[in-house]
Amino acid sequence: KTYGVIMAGGSGTRFWPLSRKTTPKQLLNLSGNGLMINETIDRMNGFIKKENIFIVTNKDQSDKMKALVEDGIRMDHILSEPAVRNTSACIGYAAMEIIKKYGDGVMCIFPSDHYIKEEESFSRVLKEAVKVAEESDRLVTIGITPTFPSTGYGYIQFDETQAGIIRNVERFVEKPNHETAVKYLKSGDFLWNSGMFVWKASTIIENFKRFLPRVYNDIIKIGDAMNTIMEVDTINEVYPNIPSISIDYGIMERSDEVVVLEGNFGWNDVGSWDMLGALYDTDENGNIIKGEQINLETSNCISYSDNRLIATIGINNTIIVETDDVVLVCAKDKAQDVKKIVDIIKMQG
Ligand code: GDD
Ligand code: MG
Repeated sequence: KTYGVIMAGGSGTRFWPLSRKTTPKQLLNLSGNGLMINETIDRMNGFIKKENIFIVTNKDQSDKMKALVEDGIRMDHILSEPAVRNTSACIGYAAMEIIKKYGDGVMCIFPSDHYIKEEESFSRVLKEAVKVAEESDRLVTIGITPTFPSTGYGYIQFDETQAGIIRNVERFVEKPNHETAVKYLKSGDFLWNSGMFVWKASTIIENFKRFLPRVYNDIIKIGDAMNTIMEVDTINEVYPNIPSISIDYGIMERSDEVVVLEGNFGWNDVGSWDMLGALYDTDENGNIIKGEQINLETSNCISYSDNRLIATIGINNTIIVETDDVVLVCAKDKAQDVKKIVDIIKMQG
């Protein structure tokens, strides 16, 4: 059986001030077509039934996530983490849940905050990935042809000598520095890691045992308590102390059982304000304008108004975001640093 697991516990701080602790990126309607979490669920239509989808979220967001039940997600498939412990914990928890509830199964893991243009071709690639995971104990990744030397993605070096669409991975490098990313891009045998993974629940548990023994022990403790009266208490006690490490650093960089399927279906991670161009066409001056605005001699800007009028004169390459309580003005090439503001606000309490 095949299960979908949506990782929806991240905070998406780079979309501040629109994204907040209780309304992170996955609960925003950035594209204008619906909440990103709903778009993520709908995209699986055709290869994973809604009743087989799990959502892993955290306690701050779980109330809002529970609304998804009305859309056909099972209440007992909304897993609420009592602490934010990164993607290893999230995936381990979901794998254990699948094993305890259903024995085992292939899990297709998706981030909750990506855009995909060509959904049919996406379905095709995923079906292929499921087949590989069913028939072997490989860790299947979906790779995207890189277009610029991003330092925000993982890079997958594939075996160039293999002709098929499923290729062995020689190296997985999570978030290289700029110099390295430039080298990878030039070499032509690297793909970006899309952050989607396909493998059997039992396979990933074995990998936890081998590469992340402390995470493994904690997940086993939680698994042992599942379906008993101790379940909630055990999760609350164990979760906050699970080592916080992403699956990319923890397992993908270390395993040599990784394979990659190239999937060019118009993937975009729209990770920060400057990437909004992937969703919207720009006007004749290169601007993306949302909401009520008057813009004179303004070019290459992203200007987003929630309700008040924004007026600009002679402004270039700038991001402006207006919400009820915050106005952000940010140079376009500093969009990644929005999270620094969020860190300062957190520190100030
Ligand atoms: N439930 C839960 N709990 N979800 C989490 C947690 C957590 O503690 N931490 C992150 N997530 C969710 C996020 O909401 C997002 O949907 C997904 O997991 C990935 O986390 P990000 O924080 O967005 O990771 P990233 O963008 O830095 O890097 C990953 O994605 C890139 C592609 O977008 C890596 O897999 C990279 O290798 C990859 O290139
Ligand atoms: Mg991300």
